[in-house]
Amino acid sequence: MKTLAALLICTTMVANSFADGPAFTVDASRATGKVSPMLYGLMTEEINHSYDGGLYAELIQNRAFLDNAVTPVHWSVVNDDDSAATIALDPTNSFNDKLTESLRLTVTKATKARPAGVANSGYWGIPVQPHTRYRASILARAEADFSGPVTVSMVSDDGRAIYATGTISGLTTEWKKFELTLTTSRVAPTAKAHFAITLGQPGTVWFGLVSLFPPTWDNQANGFRKDLLQMLVDLNPRFLRFPGGNYVEGDTIETRFDWKKTIGPIEERHGHPCPWGYRSSDGLGLLEFLEWCENMNAEPVLAVYAGYSLNHDHVNPGPDLEPFVQDALDEVEYVTGDTNTTWGARRAQDGHPAPFKLHYVEIGNEDWFDKSMSYDGRFAQFYDAIKARYPQLKVISTIGNDQPESSHVHGRQPDMTDEHYYRSVDTFLHMSPDYARNYDRHGPEIFVGEWAAYETSFPPWNSRSQKEPPTPNLQAALGDAVFMAAMERNSDLIKMQCYAPLLVNVNPGARQWRPDLIGYDAISAYGSPSYHAIRMFSRNLGDEILNTSSLETSIQGCATRDSGSGEIFLKLVNPHAAAQPLRIEIKGVKALASKASAITLTGNLDDSNSITQPRKIVPVTKTVRGVKPAFTYTLPPHSIVVLKLKERS
Ligand code: AHR
Repeated sequence: MKTLAALLICTTMVANSFADGPAFTVDASRATGKVSPMLYGLMTEEINHSYDGGLYAELIQNRAFLDNAVTPVHWSVVNDDDSAATIALDPTNSFNDKLTESLRLTVTKATKARPAGVANSGYWGIPVQPHTRYRASILARAEADFSGPVTVSMVSDDGRAIYATGTISGLTTEWKKFELTLTTSRVAPTAKAHFAITLGQPGTVWFGLVSLFPPTWDNQANGFRKDLLQMLVDLNPRFLRFPGGNYVEGDTIETRFDWKKTIGPIEERHGHPCPWGYRSSDGLGLLEFLEWCENMNAEPVLAVYAGYSLNHDHVNPGPDLEPFVQDALDEVEYVTGDTNTTWGARRAQDGHPAPFKLHYVEIGNEDWFDKSMSYDGRFAQFYDAIKARYPQLKVISTIGNDQPESSHVHGRQPDMTDEHYYRSVDTFLHMSPDYARNYDRHGPEIFVGEWAAYETSFPPWNSRSQKEPPTPNLQAALGDAVFMAAMERNSDLIKMQCYAPLLVNVNPGARQWRPDLIGYDAISAYGSPSYHAIRMFSRNLGDEILNTSSLETSIQGCATRDSGSGEIFLKLVNPHAAAQPLRIEIKGVKALASKASAITLTGNLDDSNSITQPRKIVPVTKTVRGVKPAFTYTLPPHSIVVLKLKERS
């Protein structure tokens, strides 16, 4: 094979005119279909401390003392040789019927110089940033002989530095909410800190809820961590599928995502056990999911609980299912109803009078696991009720072409079906060239609602997942990229797709699954190579699908065009260890601008990013010169390339 390697001049790649070897031919004379404008989106659920200890900016872990029924986990006594205190859960002194526990702090010995109290360790540390204002809010009451003051601080774990401090006073025997701002000055950023509430004299105080927020995205109260939300916005998502995944189902019917319990002031939210082994505060509830969408300029793909939970319990279609169907109708009304509807009014009362956009409702999650075969009937009941009230909504079945035909719903024709693919890189390399090629173009639209390439072996939630890095390496990103190219080629039918899981707190014990797209600890965050691959693809999406043929199937890719600007996007994946000269031919164009740009993600297969090396592998953009309708471009070894060509008339 004769090869002409691309010549690198500073930041400029030179495309060569002739070469033998693999070819990638694009027919630009006509579009073969429309690219779905909704193609790239996000899927989310409470897993890996995605919300509590992740995107939801609350810094206090176990803020309502409900995480453990026996001891106040994540809270500890603050004292020294000259001071003394005890703490205990106290269900007999609770704030209301939602916050059913309180924390009793009894200080028996303390002075101003030797205070005693209680500390919270946060979600693997309390992040401290310089010149920053933190909002603390504390529900508290005290014994009759104590009214304060109470000191509230952010303190270094070695006890040497008090980063920010304030006091509250005027405590009474009645519950009261105290709010204060803690402001740091010049300090090196650190997460080796905790939050402390101390008394400088003996006394007994009960806490119903203790909250601490850093500055949030757009300064929203009860809002989102800025760095993580920015990373999500950068993916240019058009939709957010929530809440999950298994999170919508719950381990049991009782512990499903019961949306009505997740709205209103945070002191009205009891929280619930999530299926991933820890408790969700429900601080990120239905309204916050919707505001998250709004912040990203994306629309919700609303998953409603459909009467099946992970312990295989199901609700029979018919009268038993009616309350759940009604809950779903109410939920849609909360999202879309105007303020003269019951639930639209409730949304306004919760702080968001304007209705949200909604086009898609998904009925459950992965209902092929329901061996009672009740999904057909359950789906039909939800479908009929939703269509009767909201005929404009598209109703998604959770059983798609990745499952045997016999398990599909037959009673009603879904508008869309959801396929899930967790596959090895090898499997994606083999299945992607033909993926969806022979799907029925007259059947339901397709949503690939969960997918991810893992490097070699599954399952991802076993003990291996704790030993291996939480986020995938470049090898996995190559698998992701060929599958994304396949979905783009077929995006006349594949209307939406989203990687899962999205987020992982990388601290030991915080995660249940690998691989995950974005990793973080209390103070920093990074994108995996897969994150960068998705970003490269989603930000360079045309609106027309162009037909492509590849003479060497091991180089996979797709081509789209922006009909407005005439820009042609070629997405190419070289999974091989050797550089690959590729003959690119764009048929049906008179001319191309001789200058193009190439965004490239390349490296060693096992290269990955991490908290300590967040940018070890990131895309690089270069100018390509000498581009013609037929030219040779050399793909680097193990690379994902987006070539942006400009059509000239
Ligand atoms: O993404 C992790 C889990 O994988 C989801 O909760 C579930 O839908 C799937 O099985």
